[in-house]
Amino acid sequence: MALLDANISKPRMGGPSFSLRHRFYRTSWSLTWALLGRWSPVPFHGWRRFLLTMFGADIHRTARVYPSADIWYPRNLTMAEYSCLASGSVCYCMDKIELRPHALVSQGAYLCGGTHDVDAPSFQLISKPIVIGANAWVAAGAFVGPGVIVGDGSVLGARGVSVKNLAPYTIYAGNPARPIRRRKFDGAVRD
Ligand SMILES: CC(C)(COP(=O)(O)OP(=O)(O)OC[C@H]1O[C@@H](n2cnc3c(N)ncnc32)[C@H](O)[C@@H]1OP(=O)(O)O)[C@@H](O)C(=O)NCCC(=O)NCCS
Repeated sequence: MALLDANISKPRMGGPSFSLRHRFYRTSWSLTWALLGRWSPVPFHGWRRFLLTMFGADIHRTARVYPSADIWYPRNLTMAEYSCLASGSVCYCMDKIELRPHALVSQGAYLCGGTHDVDAPSFQLISKPIVIGANAWVAAGAFVGPGVIVGDGSVLGARGVSVKNLAPYTIYAGNPARPIRRRKFDGAVRD
């Protein structure tokens, strides 16, 4: 569903950027998470999955969302098996955000699906989808910008900032994120 409507969204003029219906949904979601999700005991992953699913998220039964994770719009969130949104992570899913199998988003990481057209006088809001590939790791405090695909098995190091796609099985660090080496792990799990 397209959230942004240029007829409604006029960021420089103040006022709301989204329809009344959308804002009602988000207010309901914020209250629900604040009252029933954020204070739930850490092991209650099933309960938090239930809340998110009730609000339209597509979440595998093995995925984990920690109580202090912040999800802006559950309908735009897809989490595959064993993917994880850790404590304090922010999922600003103004557009689709997909975590593929075993994707891990660590503490305080920020997945940012929205920005503004800085060249337009209207300063129009823009949203772009984000994909966190299978076995990828977005480490603590890292930032993933709108439209970025974090390749399968890729690592974005702590506090790294990625505004471009990250190649598979490559470790990145810094701002802007630069490759530091290839990852040895090839995706296969051997006991
Ligand atoms: C990215 C990371 C996985 C790399 O680990 P590594 O492959 O062992 O890398 P090294 O420690 O050997 O560092 C290699 C180089 O990258 C630099 N580097 C490593 N991580 C960096 C980071 N997050 N930001 C900036 N530079 C970094 C090192 O300073 C080193 O630079 P040098 O070659 O000039 O000396 C690790 O540093 C990291 O950020 N881990 C995340 C920790 C975290 O988020 N924990 C919380 C969840 S459990």
